[in-house]
Amino acid sequence: MKKKVLALLLCGAMAVGMLTGCGSKPADTPADTSTPSETPAATTPAPAETTPAPAETTAADGCPGVDGLNIGVCIYKFDDNFMTLYRTELQRYLEAGGATVTVMDGKNDQAEQTNQIQNFITEGVDVLIVNLVQSTAAANITDLCSAADIPVVYINREPDDDEKARWTADGTKATYVGADARQSGTFQGEIVLNTANKGDINGDGKVSYVMVMGDPENIDAQYRTEFSIKALTDAGMEVEKLDEQRGDWDQARGQEIVANALTNYGEQVEVVFCNNDAMALGAKQAIEAAGRTVGTDIYLLGVDALTDALEGVIAGSITGTVFNDHIGQSHAAAEAAAKFAAGETLDTLIGVDYIKVTQENAQEILDLLK
Ligand code: GAL
Repeated sequence: MKKKVLALLLCGAMAVGMLTGCGSKPADTPADTSTPSETPAATTPAPAETTPAPAETTAADGCPGVDGLNIGVCIYKFDDNFMTLYRTELQRYLEAGGATVTVMDGKNDQAEQTNQIQNFITEGVDVLIVNLVQSTAAANITDLCSAADIPVVYINREPDDDEKARWTADGTKATYVGADARQSGTFQGEIVLNTANKGDINGDGKVSYVMVMGDPENIDAQYRTEFSIKALTDAGMEVEKLDEQRGDWDQARGQEIVANALTNYGEQVEVVFCNNDAMALGAKQAIEAAGRTVGTDIYLLGVDALTDALEGVIAGSITGTVFNDHIGQSHAAAEAAAKFAAGETLDTLIGVDYIKVTQENAQEILDLLK
């Protein structure tokens, strides 16, 4: 029931992207613990939310078309909050549909993951779902799969445009399912623009910020970093980058980076952008330890909508986050696998929307994801 409601909300919120399960395309989502999503809150100018949703998504049911299939799933590493939510729902959805699923931990090592893929190929799986350790490995992995005539569905880490163009040119059975990280960055910037002072807390005419990046090789990190700031400058705000460090999606790193930034720049820091919620949760600890108050003398943004982050948004200790729809994305990936196995041809990109989350809709999202 809850899942059905979520599906409805997601479908409704999805005007722009496509959703998974909602009859047409997939959507993306964050993982586990917290899942959330939805409506553009007060701040969002985004397209969202208008479409009345085809109500019948089958979030709680199994994936259609996978009964009897043997599916190999490779995750870049298990020790990642968001991807844990993602893979848990992916496995559940596939198994509920009757598939036999094996999920491997790439341990953040591309050589290890490539071995796992070779083993799946030797075993003769019907289809592979792959969260690459390195997006740049896509060409090699695609060639391995293609030579064995095994379709591959990439998730979470997007191969570049040249690689996707190659799939089209060669008729390769490969696709990427995911969200457009530019949208999540834009949503972060919009949340700041919707605060009373548009992020310029001290009124000096510029927004002085600290950026905590994920893995900089990852397009999600690159686009979130770029587009959060672009939203501000597009709106006419002047910005000042005080610090930018890679936190590799990790909470402890987020804490350390922001603690250092607050020591070095003190009151100058008006906004802390984190490329994901795990790092924002670390940043929140550092902000509290420094005696700063989110919403009063500093703003803090994340992405994913993990449960703890949603609770922070509700409490006001995190300004906002962006729902990275792990349910929509995992379902879209599973459905793409089913279609490939049935011999269908798919687009090289299957998109899922993000949803802006502020204090206005965080509880709603949290309730839906419980
Ligand atoms: C992002 C997500 C991060 C991390 C990363 C792994 O989409 O926001 O939390 O899971 O994927 O590639």
